[in-house]
Amino acid sequence: MHTDIGEVLITEEQISVRVKELAEKISKDYKGRCPVFVGVLKGCVFFLSDLLKHITIDCNVDFMCLSSYSGTQSTGIVRTVLDLKESIEDRDVVIVEDIVDSGLSMEYLLHNFRSRRPKSIKICTMLDKPAARKVNISVKYAGFEIPEKFVVGYGLDFNELYRNLPYIGVIKKSVVEKDKTCR
Ligand code: IMP
Ligand code: MG
Repeated sequence: MHTDIGEVLITEEQISVRVKELAEKISKDYKGRCPVFVGVLKGCVFFLSDLLKHITIDCNVDFMCLSSYSGTQSTGIVRTVLDLKESIEDRDVVIVEDIVDSGLSMEYLLHNFRSRRPKSIKICTMLDKPAARKVNISVKYAGFEIPEKFVVGYGLDFNELYRNLPYIGVIKKSVVEKDKTCR
C-alpha cells in the first residue's frame, strides 16, 4: 500500500468484480441500441476503460472535462474545460463519472446535455456519496456507495496525485494537512 494511504476502502478485486457486473447490466439494458459513453475526465479514466472492455454491445465513446475541485474542497463552480467531439442529438447517452459527491457537476452536465436534445441520458458512476448531496441527482448505475470521506485512487486524485493507485483509499490526514503536491 502507498505510504500516504491510511485506509483501503475498496480493493482492486472488489472493483474488478463490480465493474464487470455494471457492464453486464448496461449491455443488457441497451441491447439493440448503440449508446454513447461520455467519460468525464480525468477521474473516469480507469473506470471507463475497465467498463468498456466488458460492454458487449456496439457503442461510441466521447469525453468531457469538467473542473470544480481544488484540493479536497469543491469550489462549487463547475466549468467545461473540454467539450464533446461529436453531436449527441437523438443519441442514448451514458455519462461515466468517477464519483457523484455534491451532485453539482452532474446537475451542470445534465442541464448542458439536455439542450443538445439526446434521446436519453443516464448516469453511471463508480462511486456514490449520497450523504454529500446538495442537489437531487438520479444515478442509474453506481459501483459502490461510500461514506462522506475524501477518497483517492482508481482515477480519483488529491492535488492531481494518487490517480494511478489501483484501489480506492483514504489519504492520511497528515498528507492533506501538508497539502502535498508534485509541483
Ligand atoms: P460533485 O461534488 O458531485 O460535483 O463532484 C465533482 C467532482 O469532484 C467529481 O466528479 C470528482 O472528480 C471530484 N470529487 C468529489 N469527491 C471526491 C473525492 O472524494 N475524491 C476525489 N475527487 C472527488
Ligand atoms: Mg469526476
